[in-house]
Amino acid sequence: MTLRFGILTVSDRSSRGERPDRSGPALKEKILAEGWQVLQDDIVPDDILILKDNLARWADGREFDVILTTGGTGFAPRDVTPEATQAVIQRSAPGLVEAMRAESLKITPHAMLSRSIAGIRDRTLIVNLPGSPKAALENLNVIIPVLPHAVELLHEDARAEAGHQF
Ligand code: MTE
Repeated sequence: MTLRFGILTVSDRSSRGERPDRSGPALKEKILAEGWQVLQDDIVPDDILILKDNLARWADGREFDVILTTGGTGFAPRDVTPEATQAVIQRSAPGLVEAMRAESLKITPHAMLSRSIAGIRDRTLIVNLPGSPKAALENLNVIIPVLPHAVELLHEDARAEAGHQF
């Protein structure tokens, strides 16, 4: 099953061209290696209005199965990715972030500082990942095994029933 992704890098400095975005390309490489598609990737500043607008627009375009954000989930005053995500989702998906934090805590106690959330807008799943390439990939790796079934369920695909057997 091919999943269609959007990747949104959230960083003031990268959006101004002051720091190269390494997390977006790292996530893209991993997704392509899984045999999935990245339809669009972009860089936006840590601005709640821009973020909300971008997330809602991408989800409402109905092309993306999954939108990954990277960055802006920590405690810095401008870290507002979770708040922007919360504003646009209709249903939350806490299990994904619970699993990411549980696995990440085995790697670093700093995982406690991630305020990431995940949720669903119509048929699109939105997941916040941390900002560094290492952290973003470590978190993505946790949820990769369940993403195909998650997307099947979002599309109410009859094949999804098979996934309930294990
Ligand atoms: N999760 C994993 N797996 N590995 C990490 O290195 N870094 C943490 C955390 N989650 C980290 C991690 C750190 S240092 C922070 S501050 C938070 O994610 C939030 O990161 P962000 O502000 O870049 O989004």
